[in-house]
Amino acid sequence: MKFDKLLHGGDYFPEQWLDHPEVIEEDIHLLKETKSNAVSIGMFAWSALEPQENNYEFEWLDKIMDLMAENNIKVMLASPSGAKPAWMSANHPEVLRTNSLGQKMHHGGRHNHCISSPYYRKKIKEMNRKLAERYKDHPALYMWHVSNEYEGECHCDLCQQEFRGWLKNKYKNDLDKLNDAWWSRFWSHRYSDWSQIESPSLLGVQDLHGLNLDWKRFVTDQTLSFYRDEMEPLKEITPNIPRFTNFQSENPGLFIFKELDYSKFAADIDVIAWNAYPEWHNDQEETYELASKVAFSNDYLKSLKQQPFLITESTPSLVNWREVNKAKRPGMHLLSSMQMLAHGSNSNLYFQIRKSRGGSEKFHGAIIDHDRSTDNRVFQDVKELGTIMDKISPEVVDTNRYADVGILFDVENAWALQDAKGYGLETKKYDETVMEHYQTFWEKNIAVDVITTNNQFENYKLLVIPMLYMMDDEMIERIAHYVKEGGRVVSSYISGIVDSNDLVNVGGWPEKLQKVFGINILETDTLYPTDRNAVSYGDNEYEVFDYATIIEKNTAKSLGNYLDDFYKNETAITENDYGKGMSYYIAARMEHKFQQDFYSHLINKLHLKAILDVDHDLGVSIQGRINKETNQEVIFIMNFTEKDQMIDINETVEDLLTGEMISGEVSLEKYEVLIVKK
Ligand code: GLA
Ligand code: ZN
Repeated sequence: MKFDKLLHGGDYFPEQWLDHPEVIEEDIHLLKETKSNAVSIGMFAWSALEPQENNYEFEWLDKIMDLMAENNIKVMLASPSGAKPAWMSANHPEVLRTNSLGQKMHHGGRHNHCISSPYYRKKIKEMNRKLAERYKDHPALYMWHVSNEYEGECHCDLCQQEFRGWLKNKYKNDLDKLNDAWWSRFWSHRYSDWSQIESPSLLGVQDLHGLNLDWKRFVTDQTLSFYRDEMEPLKEITPNIPRFTNFQSENPGLFIFKELDYSKFAADIDVIAWNAYPEWHNDQEETYELASKVAFSNDYLKSLKQQPFLITESTPSLVNWREVNKAKRPGMHLLSSMQMLAHGSNSNLYFQIRKSRGGSEKFHGAIIDHDRSTDNRVFQDVKELGTIMDKISPEVVDTNRYADVGILFDVENAWALQDAKGYGLETKKYDETVMEHYQTFWEKNIAVDVITTNNQFENYKLLVIPMLYMMDDEMIERIAHYVKEGGRVVSSYISGIVDSNDLVNVGGWPEKLQKVFGINILETDTLYPTDRNAVSYGDNEYEVFDYATIIEKNTAKSLGNYLDDFYKNETAITENDYGKGMSYYIAARMEHKFQQDFYSHLINKLHLKAILDVDHDLGVSIQGRINKETNQEVIFIMNFTEKDQMIDINETVEDLLTGEMISGEVSLEKYEVLIVKK
């Protein structure tokens, strides 16, 4: 979809204030003051829209929609499926979710309906139809915000039945096929009838890895089918209004939510939208380390559709659900919001517009605080951001991010690897490993797409595929084809071990991989936390920990050897010519310095360019977007450290806010961000 403006604003819950029209009036006024231009309404408004079964009340929403239109505020109108009304749980208890222990949940909470329930699906379709029919020509209607942060799974009888249907479809009604795929003769897990299959449970089957994987795939597919049901009337009645569902993030960590495989949703969503709550100023990591993780997740979400995305939720200050809920320090709100734009976001939206008086989120940050004051520090921060976004919007909104480097992050692989009973149970660290490979590029301001298996590899000069434990034939073929045609690929220990059913590739490493990399895999040693080995590379030695794979070198050339243990002098890093391309294999987990030196070498060799030629210390990040038609680049220079940074800009750029031309030495204050164009 094409945006005509960067969006600023956020989640708005006027249903809380219907008895206080003066509050709603004040909200509009304050939204305008903060240069807000978009709100999401209705995420949890089901009981306000349908207070009794089949008894609808839309008049309050009509008024809000009109008010927004009068004030030029765009509405992302939500379907209310994120929380169900009490009458529904009472009258139709089949909508209640059942947990993996078989316990039926009571009414309450949110995000907790049975994802298969025909009644729930029918009701939400009816609701969405009514919303679409009523507001299809309303000038405020801008996008459909379908539901809110889909999550979780249901183990009720109906979901079990649906799961069996899903399996029958996948295994073409052939139970033997399923038994083979799940290796179910082991421990007598063999099924002799489809009806015996149950979802994984602490009280039941936990260790059938093929079952676990298929269940997770089913949950994603079932949630996607729920989304498609929700979309049906919206698509039919308002085909030109874009639709999305907002993705949630995992906290702490890399923010990539792995309960569902979001890559499967991308094709059905018009704009990727995610809710971002990084824990700024925490006591476990440096600010720049957290910033690089935020960068990673943005580059993942951006790559899902290769289009600008939306930040649908963030906090202007603090959240309320962490053990410690610390306020953003002065400067951080602007910096952290600009980072989102730098990586391809077209918005900064908040949860929420006004702090609630009651309920569990009354202490969560919002634009308007309980004091209702415009002098409020947070309000002023929001206003500053809104003013800047408004100013830079024309230069930024039509731009997109580009990258020559693709790093693969595969959620299904994360599931399989985490579930595998092997290696070190606590040290697999797939997320951290992929991040480790990403880090050097981030430090050097080289743009990266964090891609999924949906992305074309051919778009990249360099493809990095760390720890891809699970590789099916198609993936192996794609890698081989990419390299053969001139691509460069880097792979690592614990890659290509199992197929997509988590069945081990027997007879050595898959033949095709052996050819591409010019090696065979012999064994992988798992180390205790205090164990260390080392690897030589260039003139240096690098510490090895956690994993060391022993390989047989065939056509590959060795770039480094192990320095200790029974595999001393064996090859640990290889390079191989294959077709018109080149492949690299890193056999051991090594300290960060190794990745820095190894990738610096590749960056030089492949002439990968930094987004802007600037000398600076660790903690400054430079990210950018480009307008493909005009070739105009917008670049964000960000200081993610607590001290002033002297940087040296080796090109001449224009400050977007002041119009000043800048080059040479520039001082960046703590948390300062410069927005420039080339
Ligand atoms: C999630 C939800 C919101 C709100 C925020 C609070 O992202 O989607 O409704 O609960 O968390 O941080
Ligand atoms: Zn169910």
